[in-house]
Amino acid sequence: FPGAAEWVPDKGGLAKLTAALPECRGCDLYQDAERVVPGEGPARARMMLIGEQPGDVEDKKGHVFVGPAGRVLDKALVEAGIDRSEVFLTNAVKHFRFQREGKRRIHKTPAVGHIVACGPWLQRELAVVKPSLVVILGSVAARAVLGSGFKVTEQRGLPLELPDGRAGVATVHPSSVVRSREYRRDFDLFVNDLRAAVALLD
Ligand code: URA
Ligand code: SF4
Repeated sequence: FPGAAEWVPDKGGLAKLTAALPECRGCDLYQDAERVVPGEGPARARMMLIGEQPGDVEDKKGHVFVGPAGRVLDKALVEAGIDRSEVFLTNAVKHFRFQREGKRRIHKTPAVGHIVACGPWLQRELAVVKPSLVVILGSVAARAVLGSGFKVTEQRGLPLELPDGRAGVATVHPSSVVRSREYRRDFDLFVNDLRAAVALLD
């Protein structure tokens, strides 16, 4: 894939970024998705949470974390004392990747090529918002921000330094909590990691 760089504005703020996003042809994912889903939140949020990619519901509505994973994320944010309206929420990949099974569209994890192709949008969001803390939700976001070799399961909830010097914390993706057979335990572990992130905000 050519990557998103040539479509990403190198000046301007979030409005300009969001306006440019639908034009992106940086990889093949724009072809089958309904719409692109931009990051959302205050331009000066101190905390940025990075997910994987829009899901089926997000792709239809055009907003981040408004499906089943979003409901779990919302509950966990409340328990961790984080106000959703004060954080910036985005995804490593801005278009929904899926495969069709009959009428259903089944989530397909983005390939490394998609994560790399979409990286310039995420980097631009980081440069514009300048969060002091980045919360990495799952392995795709970890791949986007920390590169290969990082294991969320081994380092979840621990303070990290990102390659750009920013502080970070990695945890699981909320959709893994949605699917968990030990929901209560995994939900509580997820909340613990979010609390660890809050504790790093100064
Ligand atoms: N999963 C994500 O990673 N992001 C969303 O916006 C929705 C589900
Ligand atoms: Fe562009 Fe990212 Fe969409 Fe690919 S997934 S077309 S790089 S916005």
